[in-house]
Amino acid sequence: MAPKRPRKILVTSALPYANAPLHLGHMLEQVQADIWVRFQKSRGHDCLYVCADDAHGTAIMLAAEKQGITPEQHIERIHRDHKRDSDRFLIDFANFHSTHSPENRAWSEEIYRRLKANKHIASRAITQAFDPEKQLFLADRFIKGSCPRCKTPDQYGDNCEACGATYTPADLIDPVSAISGATPVEKESVHFFFKLPEFETMLRQWLDSDTLQPQVANKLREWTEAGLQEWDISRDAPYFGFEIPDEPGKYFYVWLDAPIGYIASFQNYCERTGHPFEPYWQPGGDTELYHFIGKDIINFHGLFWPAMLQSAGLRTPTAIFVHGFLTVNGTKMSKSRGTFINAGTYLEHLDAEYLRYYFAAKLSGSVDDIDLNLEDFVQRVNSDVVGKIVNIASRCAGFLARGFDNRLAGECAEPALLADFIARGDAIAQLYEEREFNKAMREVVALADQANQYIDEKKPWVLAKQAGSESEVHAVCSVGINLFRVLMTYLKPVLPAMATKAESFLACALDWTELENVLVDHQLGTFEPLLTRIDSKQVDAMVEASKQATVAARAAPVAVGQADKAETIAFEDFARVDLRIAEIVAAELVEGADKLLRLTLSLGDSEKQVLAGIRSAYEPGELVGKLTVMVANLAPRKMRFGVSEGMVLAAGPGGKELFLLEPHAGARAGMQVK
Ligand code: 2FM
Ligand code: ZN
Repeated sequence: MAPKRPRKILVTSALPYANAPLHLGHMLEQVQADIWVRFQKSRGHDCLYVCADDAHGTAIMLAAEKQGITPEQHIERIHRDHKRDSDRFLIDFANFHSTHSPENRAWSEEIYRRLKANKHIASRAITQAFDPEKQLFLADRFIKGSCPRCKTPDQYGDNCEACGATYTPADLIDPVSAISGATPVEKESVHFFFKLPEFETMLRQWLDSDTLQPQVANKLREWTEAGLQEWDISRDAPYFGFEIPDEPGKYFYVWLDAPIGYIASFQNYCERTGHPFEPYWQPGGDTELYHFIGKDIINFHGLFWPAMLQSAGLRTPTAIFVHGFLTVNGTKMSKSRGTFINAGTYLEHLDAEYLRYYFAAKLSGSVDDIDLNLEDFVQRVNSDVVGKIVNIASRCAGFLARGFDNRLAGECAEPALLADFIARGDAIAQLYEEREFNKAMREVVALADQANQYIDEKKPWVLAKQAGSESEVHAVCSVGINLFRVLMTYLKPVLPAMATKAESFLACALDWTELENVLVDHQLGTFEPLLTRIDSKQVDAMVEASKQATVAARAAPVAVGQADKAETIAFEDFARVDLRIAEIVAAELVEGADKLLRLTLSLGDSEKQVLAGIRSAYEPGELVGKLTVMVANLAPRKMRFGVSEGMVLAAGPGGKELFLLEPHAGARAGMQVK
């Protein structure tokens, strides 16, 4: 049944920084929000999920510079990659926008003006570390030096990775700018501040209002009790962001305009679709606003953001849903162990729905960390989803196709059992609502056990061999299919692609609002496999590929003259590198690898096979006959797709701009490069 008064809900998840690909930590959050949104829609509510790239800041400016491209080009590339990965994880964004957008500029300026008009903006000069070579102010993480306690060199910012000491960057021995290597100097400049202390009473009430999970409210109370500080919302040029109105050379700090990006993304959606915008941001209406975030950014969302909204005369969030960190095999994601897994790498090896289910089976409404244990992942998905849920349908579908033309029986033979399955829906819905997805999954799997037990007891495979038992086979399998329909309705928010296949097999919509429509005398579609088992080799290959991705990222080609200068090497080191002219005599795609080409390189008297990461820039056919420069004496490396016996030299930021160094026509294969 559709709800009498559908709720009007707006959901966001944290805006990923436009400086790196999405990894499984991002996907945990997006999947959590997406399941909740899909659940609300299944219940008949109007629920929209918006997100965007967080596109501003020094790190993004420097990343673009390093690649020799503009920040706009850089964020556009990343935006495309982020959007693609989220789509492939079946994240149902109404809009995935960017904070570097006209809507966000307009809202950031507008909110700043309102804050200023309310006298909530202060300004004063502060002294900070400044890189005299790059002519920019240095945040703590851009200063490195030796630890004042244990003397370990190359320690960043304010803590030592070797001995754990904490200090201020000014305490570092021989501090240098991590950007240019220059010694920082102290420099004064005027900054703008948001007067957070003026919101102490409001924030105390907000923290006591059940809007936040208890652990989150407690943590934030520690800050309010320690005394709120004014918040520095400006940065000096050069900075990639929005210039502050009437303050030339001063920019909004990235964290000022990031959450405003939620408003901007929603506005962009509303303008494109005609959906109402105002009611979602005015105080006192009947719309609901929820932010899904990780526990590392609760101060921004739980203190600064509600205070800013209040001052700007906008509504505060209905609730903030905070989740814990993702660990893999019990520890922090690690590049060297191959457990720092990018979303794209995962998807090259495994189906998104495996992980969506596993995350659902682990997620709760608390801020506890979630562990992706790779063995448990394989076992749990294979056992619960394939072994139990899919099994119900596949056990029944064959009999119905063979004996009954895919038509279900004219009445339900087990009304009480089916009614019980449907009645469980209220409790399961409550668990979804509270984000207790792990408990919801346990309920569904327990029901699947009951459904399988029912089929085991009735043994349609035995009945099918007994003359005169046809109608019983029909009855049992029709019950089985109806039980499967109910379970898939409960699982659709988690497994939307599998649910779509099930909908075409069942020839009905799997929405909560349709739950009570039992299928009798109903024509089914054709049964197609819904999900196959995970082979643990797929997981091994993903881990291996994650390790390789780290190696490749370290060795990524960089634009000449744009990159950080590498450490100097001795002449003897250089002399050991055997650079040769090579002719590309064959080039082919590498199955399963979207970045690599397999090149056969002739060195005149010998040939070498090289796996080169230049697929984004070249079609294999364009390369044959070209001369290039290769490192001929690189030790062979075993990669997932075969052994690579050298390295081709290319320059450029990546993507389509990756240029092979094409030697002069007088060059011949095998010539040494001097
Ligand atoms: O921590 C982060 O990754 C930030 N880019 C999140 C921003 S969320 C919101 F405020 F925009
Ligand atoms: Zn130390």
